[in-house]
Amino acid sequence: MKGPLKIGLMDSGMGGLSVLKEILKYEADLEVVYFGDLKNSPYGEKKVSAVLDLTRDVCNRLIREEVEAILLACNTATSAAAETLRKEFSIPIFGMEPAIKPAILQNPGKRVALLATPVTQKEEKLQKLKKELNADDLLLPISCPGLAGFVDRGDFAGAEEYLQPILRDLREEGVEIAVLGCTHYVFLKDIFLKNIPDLKLYDGNSGTIKHLLNSLGKSATSSDFAGSEKTKYKLLLNSEEDFHFRLADLLLNSEEGV
Ligand code: DGL
Repeated sequence: MKGPLKIGLMDSGMGGLSVLKEILKYEADLEVVYFGDLKNSPYGEKKVSAVLDLTRDVCNRLIREEVEAILLACNTATSAAAETLRKEFSIPIFGMEPAIKPAILQNPGKRVALLATPVTQKEEKLQKLKKELNADDLLLPISCPGLAGFVDRGDFAGAEEYLQPILRDLREEGVEIAVLGCTHYVFLKDIFLKNIPDLKLYDGNSGTIKHLLNSLGKSATSSDFAGSEKTKYKLLLNSEEDFHFRLADLLLNSEEGV
C-alpha cells in the first residue's frame, strides 16, 4: 500500500516554518521534509541568479529525500526560481505569493503596505501581479533588507527596533492594512499588532496550503491545532549551531508570534 505523500518544503532559514505550521493544522496524509538553508541565509538581498542556484541546490537535496513535490516556502526563492525550476524538475514545484490580491480586493480603495525582501519587491512575479490588480496607486512597497535575518537569529527585540520607523510611518500615514510578503515576517505578527493594534495583516500561508493540498488531491480537514497526529515532518537545517535547532522548535510550537 502506498504510504503518505512525501513533500519537501524549503526556505532560506526559519521563515518556511510558518508555512509548515499551516500544513500541520490539517489532517492530511502527508510527510514533510523541511530544509532551511541557514548557511546561505538570508536570500533577500542576493543576486537573483545566486538565489536561483541556491534554491536549485536545496531542491536537489530534497529530491534525494525522495520527495514527490516541493513547496518553495519562501517568497524570495519563488520570485527568483519557481518558473525556471518548474521547467527543470519533473516533480511539481509550488511557490508563495504575497497576499496582495485578497488584501486589495477585500479592502476596496484602501492603501496596502507590502513588506517583502528587495528580491521579491523587484522581481517580475510581483510586477505582473500588481499590473493584473491595477494596484500601483494603492500599494505601498516597503523593502526590508536584513529583517529576515533577525528571525533566523531569534533576535525579536532587534526585529522590533528595525521595524519601529516603518511602523511609525504606517501610523502617521494612516495605513490600516499590511501584507507580510516574506514567510519570516509571519513570526513578527505580534510586533506589528503590539505597535498598531488595529492593523489588518495578511499573509500567503493559508491560501498557499489550501492550493497545495487541492492540487495534490489531498482532501484535508483543518484540525485547528498545531501538530496533527497524521502529518509527520523532518527538519533539516544546514547549521552547526545548536541554538538554530532550539529556535526552530520554539517557532514551530509558538502561537503566531513569539
Ligand atoms: N523567507 C523568505 C521570503 O519569504 C526569505 C527571506 C530571506 O532569506 O531574505 O522571502
